[in-house]
Amino acid sequence: MEFTASSANLLKIKADCLILMTNAQIGGALKAHNSELYGELKGLAKTVGFDGKSGSSKTLYTPGLPFPQIILIGVDGTTTRQKRIKAIADAATKAIASNAKKILWVADEISEDSNWQAAMVARNLLYASYKYVKNDKVQPSLLKTLVYWTPSRNVQRAAAAGLDFGAAVGAGMNCARELGNLPANICTPNYLADQARSMASDNSMLECSILNESDMQKLGMGSLLSVAAGTVEPAQFIVMDYRGGAKSEAPIVLIGKAVTFDSGGISLKPGGGMDEMKFDMCGGASVFGVMQALNSCQLSINVVGLVPAVENMPSGTATRPGDVVTSMSGQTIEVLNTDAEGRLILCDAITYSERFKPRAVIDIATLTGACVMALGKQASGLLSNDQALAEALLTSGTHSGDRAWQLPLWEEYDAQLKSNFADMANIGGREAGTITAACFLARYAKNLPWAHIDIAGTAWLSGAQKGATGRPVPLLMDYLQQSANRSV
Ligand code: BES
Ligand code: MN
Ligand code: ZN
Repeated sequence: MEFTASSANLLKIKADCLILMTNAQIGGALKAHNSELYGELKGLAKTVGFDGKSGSSKTLYTPGLPFPQIILIGVDGTTTRQKRIKAIADAATKAIASNAKKILWVADEISEDSNWQAAMVARNLLYASYKYVKNDKVQPSLLKTLVYWTPSRNVQRAAAAGLDFGAAVGAGMNCARELGNLPANICTPNYLADQARSMASDNSMLECSILNESDMQKLGMGSLLSVAAGTVEPAQFIVMDYRGGAKSEAPIVLIGKAVTFDSGGISLKPGGGMDEMKFDMCGGASVFGVMQALNSCQLSINVVGLVPAVENMPSGTATRPGDVVTSMSGQTIEVLNTDAEGRLILCDAITYSERFKPRAVIDIATLTGACVMALGKQASGLLSNDQALAEALLTSGTHSGDRAWQLPLWEEYDAQLKSNFADMANIGGREAGTITAACFLARYAKNLPWAHIDIAGTAWLSGAQKGATGRPVPLLMDYLQQSANRSV
């Protein structure tokens, strides 16, 4: 897909479809640009009863104009960022459904920040164009070109940069969605390792290396390996290194949980809905998505992506409840529940991250069902040992519309992890499950500015819309863009 910004005479731009986001007045920018076109559109909008209210939309057929179809999208009442994003997402869905090959987009005064707004348009168009190819009848979306119209040269420049960034984020989300949606018999730890290798070979700024089980053994990753003990799929520890910043600059490390299937192990999950545990690698998938997005918009920043990839299965060789394992940090863990496996792979990855002397470590994981209960599908859970980092991530969540909400990491909760047979248990009882999971991880992040994002509720949708969402790629990319700006 090609995204360009233009401030040319609107009537000189040919397109299959014009998307016009506006109120009932057919706003000011268009009026100033071409009063005749404005008058004509205003008249047409009136005849079809377009009221401009947020959520309303009308299609006009205008064979006399260079754009034979116009979709009016109401934006009255889109007062918050979240509502503006919703309006743009709905418009993008309609734009894709129109089957246009070329779209002209006029977002009339819904936001003063044209860089942000253009980024949202590009991102949401890509998001709406994604389809999982379940058979050979699925046709890819027809959209090839977006022309994003702005009223002046200055605004055009800001919008062009926004389009670039938004397109990178949208493609990154779709990369994460595709990996998430693939079934667990295809998307194995090995498959993910191959994806990393091929991404690195296509991109000069990205390198990757893969640790196999014997490498992990040598490093002492006994906790991670205990999760893979019951499966025939060998664990893979994927290291991706994006070098966009100065050599001397400390990297940001992203760690993504990639349990390619979480059966629960010997602490077997109930059968209903267990298929959705193929999505238990969405944290890892979001790290792949970010790496892909970084490659395409070339942010000036160093980012290391760590993806511990395992399958959690029951068998005669699987880890038992009550087994004690030793993590890479030397701390021992009593595995009271083999279904609390995410933290067992993440703790070794966090210890491994110390070697990069990072300026921040962020782990992303479908970690707890409790997080879905607490925050639902709206917000990811955020916990951190560094309040400045937490606040930067919360701000990026709001700015990108990919929101997170902070929960406390108090030591009183940590006490729930006490074990009589090891340094800690891997579960903390029924209460505050999201917090005790994070308290477990915090024991491995004592020397690091660290944040944990629990995406159990946000990484995928269930029911008729079942599928991966690509979250929190937008939050992470916003944070990385802000961080790249801060480092120069
Ligand atoms: N992958 C699950 C968490 C999960 C469950 C995410 C449902 C999304 C939907 C994780 O490995 C898990 O099983 N967690 C347990 C922890 C418990 C045993 C302490 C949970 O949340 O039930
Ligand atoms: Mn589990
Ligand atoms: Zn899991």
